[in-house]
Amino acid sequence: MCGITGYIGYREAYPIIVQGLQRLEYRGYDSAGVVLYNGEHINLAKTKGKVSDLEKIVTDTLDKSGNIGFGHTRWATHGVPNHVNSHPHLSQSENLVIVHNGIIENYSTLKKELISRGYTFQSDTDTEVLINFIEEIKLQEQCKLGKAVQLALKQVVGAYAILVFDKEKPNELVIARLGSPIAIGIGDDNSEFFIASDATPFIEYTKNAIYLEDGEMAIAKLGREIRIRNIHDDSRVEAVKTHQLQLSLEQIEKGGYDHFMLKEIHEQPTAVIDTYRGRLLANKGLIKMSGLDDNIERFINANRIIIVACGTSWHAGLVAEYLFEDIARIPVEVEYGSEFRYRNPIITEKDVVIAISQSGETADTLAAVKLAKEKGAFVFGICNVVGSSIAREVHAGGYTHAGPEIGVASTKAFTTQITLLTLLALKLGKAKGNISTPNYQTYLQELIQIPSKIETLLESDTLVKNIASVYKSVPNFLYLGRGYNFPVALEGALKLKEISYIHAEGYPAAEMKHGPIALIDEKMPVVVIATRKGHYEKVVSNIQEIKSRKGQIIAVVTKDDATVKQIADYSIEVPETLEAFTPLLTTIPLQLLSYHIAVMRGCNVDQPRNLAKSVTVE
Ligand code: G6P
Repeated sequence: MCGITGYIGYREAYPIIVQGLQRLEYRGYDSAGVVLYNGEHINLAKTKGKVSDLEKIVTDTLDKSGNIGFGHTRWATHGVPNHVNSHPHLSQSENLVIVHNGIIENYSTLKKELISRGYTFQSDTDTEVLINFIEEIKLQEQCKLGKAVQLALKQVVGAYAILVFDKEKPNELVIARLGSPIAIGIGDDNSEFFIASDATPFIEYTKNAIYLEDGEMAIAKLGREIRIRNIHDDSRVEAVKTHQLQLSLEQIEKGGYDHFMLKEIHEQPTAVIDTYRGRLLANKGLIKMSGLDDNIERFINANRIIIVACGTSWHAGLVAEYLFEDIARIPVEVEYGSEFRYRNPIITEKDVVIAISQSGETADTLAAVKLAKEKGAFVFGICNVVGSSIAREVHAGGYTHAGPEIGVASTKAFTTQITLLTLLALKLGKAKGNISTPNYQTYLQELIQIPSKIETLLESDTLVKNIASVYKSVPNFLYLGRGYNFPVALEGALKLKEISYIHAEGYPAAEMKHGPIALIDEKMPVVVIATRKGHYEKVVSNIQEIKSRKGQIIAVVTKDDATVKQIADYSIEVPETLEAFTPLLTTIPLQLLSYHIAVMRGCNVDQPRNLAKSVTVE
């Protein structure tokens, strides 16, 4: 949700900033902007549109020299995406400049106050209010920028990650965070600093990074160690932790694929292995996961597990509901972070809350985690991004190790979340004595087969592409599944609508009779997950009901299926597996179907309109 990146050091700042913005564009792409200081002037360029649009206008108009500067790629919250609302924003004197990710909730009060003091505003943004508020405090208090930022932020309600520059302090950048992530990459001997919403913009320059915590601010000053202070009481943070980044450049590039989404779909066999690597010791009959092993009593004695998540991660949570109840016999509730946090939920110390989040930054999921902690629950996190806010906030957790997911439509994050949740369910089922040793062994042995089965499935790409070409122009799609595959139907529909803009709904197959069946006619394609395990006969009846109303069936079936293939218009085979593991396979053709339809419709697959990868505002 907005990407910010900045640089201060001995290199030319512009190329570093623009490259950083391109890598952060998954966070928002309504508009983009950059600001540089060349030792004399602040030079600024911004535009509606993407980073590539920014680069076009910069070619003729901007003095690109300077070793200090920052940029922004925006996902609009306040004000429509246009030139004036784009970041960076200058203060009235044009001496201060800011980029901001987040929302200042009390901005209208602050704005009225500033207007009464003679300030005028160009944009509709909360950010322009904030930079003028900082300027006003600096003037009133006759203080330095760092102090003015601190005093201003003490009065701000909302969420932010900000980068601020002051012409009077040309060797430093002020950075602050509350609720929106920010990382600081540190060059050798503090000779340069890289600041960004995540570490991807600077991985080829440094592997050392500091992540600001909520309520902290830092001053990046050349030649000096980063100093961090608490915004609230101005106290110095003594133990500043430097993280060693594991990311590689190769991981965040497209690697020959046309889109990140396609690359990430194809990475799933490896990503699933990376998730269970070192944890699933099938031949020894063991699952090892320190976050769980150290806290297993909390899980075993839990009254229930509450899963909180948003979007695709919520769908993974739904799959986990089946896994935990089926295999571990623990009652589960699955909640949207946004609903959970605002409905005064009943949570006790006997509850375990599992937060699932690819980015580890989703504002509603993070708020749900904090609420659950306050109420005494034990909170376990499942995140992909190492060192992310949720990962740091939870009592314990496990990383999915899927590698960076750049495509806005989540793919490998989903399958790796399910893989990790499967390990949890199996371990708990065994520990609680709800699963026999032979059954447990069967599960473990089958789980290690899943990556090669996904690999086989990816070979159906041409078939799926052909199906996509038949249905690429329809206005609606229906997705049906039962049991473990009901969440897959939801996820399939979500994938299609988010990247192709075709309206799609996911439903439990049996519920179709209670409404969606009215939509069925000869133009309506219905994707039905009809694998042999899991209510097969009943799903076959649902398919017959659709066919008798002339609906078109695209069926996902188990290899060598005979019955459904005869009725369906198109069938995609998935390899045989245990029922509990079918989502890991049935999801794959649905990802490919959405991908190909979106490409054929000329949609921007990796950056669908209005969506952001990481939703750090509520
Ligand atoms: C956004 C993304 C989705 C993602 C959801 C939750 O809406 O576009 O792909 O599933 O946020 O994100 P998280 O990082 O918490 O899994």
